[in-house]
Amino acid sequence: MKKIGVLTSGGDCSGMNAAIRSVTRTAIGHNVEVVGFRKGFAGLLKGDYLALGTRDVAGIVQRGGTFLQSARSDEFRTAPGREKALRHLEELGVEGLVVIGGDGSLNGALALHRMGFPVIGIPASIDNDIAFTDMALGVDTALNNIVYAIDCIKDTASSHDRAFVIEVMGRNSGYLASTAAIATGAEYAIVPEVECDITELCNSLRRRYEEGRSNAIIILAEGAGHAQSIADNIKDAIGFETRVTVLGHYQRGGAPTVFDRLLGSRFGFTAVELLLNGQSGKMVGLCCSTVIPTLLETVVVTEKTPQDELYEMSLILEI
Ligand code: F6P
Repeated sequence: MKKIGVLTSGGDCSGMNAAIRSVTRTAIGHNVEVVGFRKGFAGLLKGDYLALGTRDVAGIVQRGGTFLQSARSDEFRTAPGREKALRHLEELGVEGLVVIGGDGSLNGALALHRMGFPVIGIPASIDNDIAFTDMALGVDTALNNIVYAIDCIKDTASSHDRAFVIEVMGRNSGYLASTAAIATGAEYAIVPEVECDITELCNSLRRRYEEGRSNAIIILAEGAGHAQSIADNIKDAIGFETRVTVLGHYQRGGAPTVFDRLLGSRFGFTAVELLLNGQSGKMVGLCCSTVIPTLLETVVVTEKTPQDELYEMSLILEI
């Protein structure tokens, strides 16, 4: 291979820049040219790209977001869109592609592979909902952001004897909510994977209040319910003054943690090594501290095993 491409697609996350830098420098180390497509598959469709040299990716490993920018492309989901993307790759002399993104992006990568184009995927999504990787890129930074915010909210909650319902992201995954609950000592995590008995939740909050606890933190995964209505329920049931905080996109940004800088670097390095070794249609994943490739066609049809033990642990630790 003489030239490869790289793009970031779907929701951005911290660590994407580390992966782009690693892809670029690993490829250049093998005398392979690199082009970065702007705004994900949309850039591929428009022919919107830039040549990436070693210095072009300097000073980005510590920056959140993605300097190539990201987008979700409806056109790329269509067969004519994919044909057009393939034509552009061929016209540019690009012989392989690294796609950095979440489940939608990995599906796009698989589609290109099925059209005969060499592709390797890197899992990147704060939701941690991608199978065959213990951690996706961006999860650790998002979790640290969440924990910092909740620690702050806990200070004000305890000063006013209040309960807070704090909504975190995660789409249909409760990973961020469960792990944040453990790490912050929250009273309760509400996750999409487990039905929440709001009466039981209120009873247990009331018991704690009567035992002398002055505040409560309930972490709600966005896919598990409506924050304001849960807060209203708590207020009506136990008379606790409640507030709602939706952490929103704050969770997705900020300087990547060391873990995400290293993970992005390791994923990028292995992705290029795989491409240059003639492999395609695979996603690199972190399995028991080792970077291991898995077939994309297996990844996209496998639901990540819900990490119920984390949720159970969060309940037991908050007794
Ligand atoms: O998939 C990542 C994610 O941040 C989800 O947690 C969230 O539901 C969604 O993206 C938000 O998407 P957008 O940035 O398009 O609002």
